[in-house]
Amino acid sequence: MQNITPCLFALFLTNLCLHLSSAADVLYEICGSTGNYTVNSTYSSNLKTLSSSLSTEAVAEQGFYENTIGTAPDQISGLVLCRGDVNSSSCGDCLNQSFQDVMNLCPYTKEATIYYDFCLLRYSNQQFLNSTDNLNQIIMYNTQNVTSSVISGWDPSNKTVKNNFDTMVNTLFTSVSDYATSKSRKRNFGTGAINITASLPATYGLSQCTGDFSNNTCRACLQDLIDEMPKYFSGNQGGRILGVRCSVRYEIYTFFFGNPDQQIGTISETVIPTPPDSTSSPRTPPDSTSSPSKGEYSTPDCLYKTKGELLNWERRFEIIEGIAQGLLYLHKHSRLRIIHRDLKASNILLDSEMNPKISDFGLARIFSSKELQANTNRVVGT
Ligand SMILES: *[C@@H]1O[C@H](CO)[C@@H](O)[C@H](O)[C@H]1NC(C)=O
Ligand SMILES: *[C@@H]1O[C@H](CO)[C@@H](O)[C@H](O)[C@H]1NC(C)=O
Ligand SMILES: *[C@@H]1O[C@H](CO)[C@@H](O)[C@H](O)[C@H]1NC(C)=O
Ligand SMILES: *[C@@H]1O[C@H](CO)[C@@H](O)[C@H](O)[C@H]1NC(C)=O
Ligand SMILES: *[C@@H]1O[C@H](CO)[C@@H](O)[C@H](O)[C@H]1NC(C)=O
Ligand SMILES: *[C@@H]1O[C@H](CO)[C@@H](O)[C@H](O)[C@H]1NC(C)=O
Ligand SMILES: *[C@@H]1O[C@H](CO)[C@@H](O)[C@H](O)[C@H]1NC(C)=O
Ligand SMILES: *[C@@H]1O[C@H](CO)[C@@H](O)[C@H](O)[C@H]1NC(C)=O
Ligand SMILES: *[C@@H]1O[C@H](CO)[C@@H](O)[C@H](O)[C@H]1NC(C)=O
Repeated sequence: MQNITPCLFALFLTNLCLHLSSAADVLYEICGSTGNYTVNSTYSSNLKTLSSSLSTEAVAEQGFYENTIGTAPDQISGLVLCRGDVNSSSCGDCLNQSFQDVMNLCPYTKEATIYYDFCLLRYSNQQFLNSTDNLNQIIMYNTQNVTSSVISGWDPSNKTVKNNFDTMVNTLFTSVSDYATSKSRKRNFGTGAINITASLPATYGLSQCTGDFSNNTCRACLQDLIDEMPKYFSGNQGGRILGVRCSVRYEIYTFFFGNPDQQIGTISETVIPTPPDSTSSPRTPPDSTSSPSKGEYSTPDCLYKTKGELLNWERRFEIIEGIAQGLLYLHKHSRLRIIHRDLKASNILLDSEMNPKISDFGLARIFSSKELQANTNRVVGT
């Protein structure tokens, strides 16, 4: 617990503690219910063949590959996709990690889907590669409430400001998705940034589809997500919709590599930092009950200097208290069974029906709910 506290403070104060949560973290996994296979079965060996073909070919094929191995009833189909801005070595690492993790998280299920920051993997005994459905869609959103320090003039009861933010996010994604499906050198992938008024934060977005989709199919897949965004993310400072076929994400900080493909308004290139993910170090395995190793933390002093921006104590207390209340609310008062599990963006996971999933992997697992609450209280007291 000692190791956690500094980062609990720090990570909400700046983005720099993000490397605590590494790109190697599982964002979400969905184990299928289409049957189980057994050790040494034909299905199991087909899966092994599939995994090596997917992870090697995808790296050669710009991060996307799909394949079908064997014949029914042991036929297995799978696809993998790396985020378009991720280089081939990180792509290969993520995919290899995904096949390892999925064996632990979804042991012996014939179907599984697993999402990471950098890649996704899905395989199934059902033929799904000919479908354009955005299967296994997952909504993740940043649970930190927007405050007037993020969006000036913010007042939860005033819909005007919220609508302005939502409209801005919509404008960003329309632009990024158009780019991804008509101009991009990287097939069906685009990033963007928007910074149009001093009252709204600079906001960064990313859209992507699997590489086999035509421009129009991809654009339609993305439009469905864009249409859903206000429903889930209204006024929210970050969110993602993950899907096997297409995904979107936005944050009020940069989270992708390189300069944004589409720039709307004034984007000062010099302030775009290296994405925090790039400094990721491997973290303890998801099933570990021990604290992460010390090497994953920077001391708070490494943090503020590098960021080049100090937050005053008033602001810190405000944020800390907000987090504490949020956590208490989630763990104690919320009637939804929600588990805060991604400290990086304090994400909650919901499926597309808004059903929260109990996902006890990742950092959330480090805390029992009692410990978390105790820790939260300590934060408030400070
Ligand atoms: C699976 O195959 C391996 C190697 O042939 C063998 O050692 C092992 O006992 C088998 N396991 C089962 C459960 O049949
Ligand atoms: C991923 O696994 C494949 C097959 O096992 C291997 O050839 C490749 O070197 C691995 N890639 C990375 C980046 O570790
Ligand atoms: C398949 O395996 C999972 C665990 O991986 C288990 O929860 C489930 O009950 C199994 N299903 C069947 C039909 O055996
Ligand atoms: C995909 O292929 C499977 C098996 O060939 C078939 O049953 C299914 O109807 C096809 N789906 C679509 C959308 O074409
Ligand atoms: C809502 O916020 C806008 C922009 O800050 C402001 O112009 C407007 O007067 C506010 N409306 C109300 C009802 O407070
Ligand atoms: C699809 O988009 C790519 C760029 O991403 C473009 O080069 C290509 O011409 C487009 N194809 C069609 C049919 O519009
Ligand atoms: C947003 O635009 C303002 C000028 O309107 C500029 O001063 C600021 O640096 C920009 N922010 C980013 C992150 O680009
Ligand atoms: C690939 O990206 C990773 C960050 O994800 C970086 O650490 C690594 O140096 C890059 N490798 C190459 C060859 O550019
Ligand atoms: C966030 O907003 C909701 C709804 O207005 C409120 O119930 C909750 O207490 C707020 N959380 C924090 C951390 O302020």
